[in-house]
Amino acid sequence: MEQSFTDQSFTDLVIGAMGPKTTPKMRRILGSLIQHIHDFTRENHITVDEWLAGVEFINRIGQISDDKRDEGILVSDVFGLESLVDSLTNQIGGAAGQSTETAIIGPFYRSGSPRYPNGASIIQKDVGGELAWVHGRVTDKQGKPLAGVELEVWHTAPNGLYEQQDPDQPEYNLRGTFTTDENGKYDYICLRPTSYPIPYDGPAGDLLRLMDRHPNRPSHIHWRVTKQGYHSLITQIYDSRDDYVTNDAVFAVKDGLVVEFTDASDEAKKRNVQFELAYDITLSTSDEAAAALKRRDEILLKKEQELAKTGQVQTAYRNGSH
Ligand SMILES: [Fe+2]
Repeated sequence: MEQSFTDQSFTDLVIGAMGPKTTPKMRRILGSLIQHIHDFTRENHITVDEWLAGVEFINRIGQISDDKRDEGILVSDVFGLESLVDSLTNQIGGAAGQSTETAIIGPFYRSGSPRYPNGASIIQKDVGGELAWVHGRVTDKQGKPLAGVELEVWHTAPNGLYEQQDPDQPEYNLRGTFTTDENGKYDYICLRPTSYPIPYDGPAGDLLRLMDRHPNRPSHIHWRVTKQGYHSLITQIYDSRDDYVTNDAVFAVKDGLVVEFTDASDEAKKRNVQFELAYDITLSTSDEAAAALKRRDEILLKKEQELAKTGQVQTAYRNGSH
């Protein structure tokens, strides 16, 4: 039979070329990916020149990335992909429940930030800006305080740059790791964050221009909150005074993560800051998250079993038996 390369039978041929040693998960995920790529290509009648432009775009994402710049994440973010993945991951069967909402990790996380005692400042060098005292409690969903929780926090300088983007900032400036005390409490001093444009001198910027969009993110602080036995929380909090809160270039703002910095109380003024933020965090247990993940896996397993049946037919096709 003569093969038509432009209809579904060709897509079936490519998907069916996977061999019997392909795992059920890879058969499902790669099969779906091939299906969507082919559908997209047919739908838009992609030409060789357009496909080459796409290939070059993907190559540039890799070429411009290094240990200080992650263009793959940036491009994902511009497409809203990381926010979608984050929401799907954490919506799993309502795993989040009443725990603190999640947000994307973004391209600027660095592990190994300096460990500070509670109350310390993450500002290693005066880069201007307004000072804020951030404090709160970490509890489980029943309200029990959790001691020994690690909180990694990071934000930009007022020039909009994270330290690894900025030769004028010391290593790990405006980043720190804190640990909750026996009452689940933490506190630290940082800058009231400022909005910033994501890097737009590469492929992510090209995309923004093609879509007539701005590159700005509302001012925020990033958090990674971890404790053995608890589901790790990656999130951001957004300053309500920022106009970009309703217009984030990477679609990461959730209503529950918008916070009010207030004028410094007497307690805060002792720390020579202008603002403060009281922010409590609630964690799910690892068991709660694992149970939710199991429910998702059961649904996907059914799909994989159905595909395995089709896979047997397609493998026969691949081996030329019909
Ligand atoms: Fe950020």
